[in-house]
Amino acid sequence: PEHRPLFGKHILVTAGPTHEPIDPVRFIANRSSGKQGFAIAAAAAAAGARVTLVAGPVALATPPGVDRVDVESAQEMAAAVKAALPADAAVMVAAVADWRTKDFAQEKIKKRGSAPPALILAENPDILASVAGSRQRPKLLVGFAAETENVVDNATRKRKSKGVDWIVANDVGQADGKGGVMGGDENTVHLISEGKVEDWEPMSKQAVARRLVERMTEVLTSE
Ligand code: C5P
Repeated sequence: PEHRPLFGKHILVTAGPTHEPIDPVRFIANRSSGKQGFAIAAAAAAAGARVTLVAGPVALATPPGVDRVDVESAQEMAAAVKAALPADAAVMVAAVADWRTKDFAQEKIKKRGSAPPALILAENPDILASVAGSRQRPKLLVGFAAETENVVDNATRKRKSKGVDWIVANDVGQADGKGGVMGGDENTVHLISEGKVEDWEPMSKQAVARRLVERMTEVLTSE
């Protein structure tokens, strides 16, 4: 029916930051609030889809009708994403940490009075790129790109290099007077698909989510 156009479709969304543990009481994190990803999950569920939301540590309520899987680290997020496939579409909004600590300390690291400890980092798996290359690649795969300069050029390159269908590029460097995009309620994005760039006017994260889900619906319901 008209108001549940995504009925029968499974949509996977990742959202929020990841926390990379240093020891039992410390972690590395980033400023992602999860608001944009949760809004997309909410909009997809409202359009009738079955939605799996793989969420990093955030203080947000689960949107109605959404199946939520909570994770902490990038490695946990990668495993949860793999377990959630297959999906008709995936929208990877999470700000996954690029690095984790190479060795997790089983006990709280103590001040030793001399030099501070060095954090040795290891690269995290690129979840989006591995979904793009997997045999279970969704029909429509959407990545996000937080950029502070040459937003459209960088995101256009990222679309190709990651092997995804669309990139939603957001200008996180924009001074909007509201504390920035990360944690804020507004977003200014560009939707980049093959050979096409759409510049969307500044709008709420809910409005970005609704418009993106409309676009996804066009693709997912055309056979
Ligand atoms: O390369 P960059 O981190 O800018 O790419 C951002 C996109 O890739 C986002 O969609 C993000 O969710 C995804 N990503 C991922 N796993 C990573 C890093 C990024 O899924 N380890």
